[in-house]
Amino acid sequence: MRTRREFVMVAAGTALGATAATPETSAQTPARDKAQAQPEASRQFPKGFFWGTATSSYQIEGAWNEDGKGPSIWDTYAHTPGKIKNNDTGDVANDHYHRYKEDVKLMKDLGATAYRFSISWPRIFPEGVGQPNAKGLDFYSRLVEELKAAGIEPFATLYHWELPQALQDKGGWQKRDTARAFADYAGYMAEKLSDRVRHFFTINEFRSMADMGYRGLEVAIPGGTMTIALAPGLKLAPGELNQVRHHAVLGHGLAVQAIRAKGKAGTKVGPAEVILAAVPLIETPEHIKAAQTATREMNAEFLTVMLEGQYTDAYLKGAGKDAPKFTDDDLKVIAAPLDVVGINVYKPNVYVLASDQAPGWRVIPFAKGHPKMFNQWLTVGPEALYWAPKLVQSLWGAKEIHITENGCASDDVIADDGKVYDTDRIMFLRACLTQLQRATADGVPVHGYFQWSTMDNFEWTAGFGNRFGLVHVDFKTQKRTPKLSAVWFREAATRNAVV
Ligand code: FCB
Repeated sequence: MRTRREFVMVAAGTALGATAATPETSAQTPARDKAQAQPEASRQFPKGFFWGTATSSYQIEGAWNEDGKGPSIWDTYAHTPGKIKNNDTGDVANDHYHRYKEDVKLMKDLGATAYRFSISWPRIFPEGVGQPNAKGLDFYSRLVEELKAAGIEPFATLYHWELPQALQDKGGWQKRDTARAFADYAGYMAEKLSDRVRHFFTINEFRSMADMGYRGLEVAIPGGTMTIALAPGLKLAPGELNQVRHHAVLGHGLAVQAIRAKGKAGTKVGPAEVILAAVPLIETPEHIKAAQTATREMNAEFLTVMLEGQYTDAYLKGAGKDAPKFTDDDLKVIAAPLDVVGINVYKPNVYVLASDQAPGWRVIPFAKGHPKMFNQWLTVGPEALYWAPKLVQSLWGAKEIHITENGCASDDVIADDGKVYDTDRIMFLRACLTQLQRATADGVPVHGYFQWSTMDNFEWTAGFGNRFGLVHVDFKTQKRTPKLSAVWFREAATRNAVV
């Protein structure tokens, strides 16, 4: 066992940093040390691979009504008793709005070379449209400066579910005007930040924000299903939901156009979608083909239409009279060419096998005893980190893929010695990154990985009870304590390899 002081040193990177050789420095390392310090070549990621962590504004910033910020649907939802576990809110959250400098320092200590954060739309446009709020913009500008000074590449997400309440009051994503308003805000941010931010993601998790927000989504878990609802917490009819989904992808396409029009040349843009990954249970050509067909169809409303410019026949036929209303021009906008495809990958959504019957694949339910992580919904299946990017490449020829989220919550506790021994998270991350490395070794163009999350934070309806961080946060004192997984992450990032 290490002493507390040793652990702190390790967590801060000083102790292990001394022996951790990057591929560049290892040339100067004596042969014996080199053998110990250099991971097997087969576990190495491509040169220049981004090792990032991710957060979102509502989940960490706090300062919900400071400096001219308008309310979002999450402020409203969390302030409604009974919606969030323990009636927790993001009013203060991690107080990151005031502590961002300390948090950037933590990221640097994690060995991170990239950071994916999100911008709160109502901090910039309190009413969703109209006059921008200079103080809101200034916060993100200062954050970006701090990141750049620390050598951390900023990746900005424009919509991580914080619709300005003023727009929800006018019908939210049920209204086409919201797509236009989103694009105007996206263009404004690109104009102001693209001199320093090279990557923008439009919308985080189209499916979660539309389906969980506007209807409630049933997800498969070992032994059954569970329903997840998010703000604004509506229960729309299927046809109305399809229209919300359509407006979301339309908003994405319009935002891509606006970013190109207002941003600096070379600015990269793409979605950050929670891909529904069908994973072949047995890796033979027929089952792989089945997984590919299934993945294309399961993502028809979002990734498939964004990357193909068409809704699939099966989706339109299945929706029948509830299909979204759209024009050919809409489809052109939705399929605006992308530079990057961001995918959030936590698990296989379904396992599939080939079938003689149409549609050529069948879902094999998770066995009752199939392992899961701390979250009921987080079925263990690290091979999703191989198949999801691989299928994005083979289906749509994506040239630059980022894993914009991956991680797990744990029932983390501070041990008597003050440390957090999150063995389950280390196991999970190692297993996932092993599969991701396999994808890069196969030539799948994955350029970056963003672990969710930099630090424990407000996990939506689960409140502060689901700890996803590499860094533990005591929400009473705001004390940050790097967990053992932070040490693991730093080692992997520094060596650019699975460790
Ligand atoms: C994703 C969300 C993210 C976080 C993780 C655990 O669906 O994008 O904000 O809640 O799940």
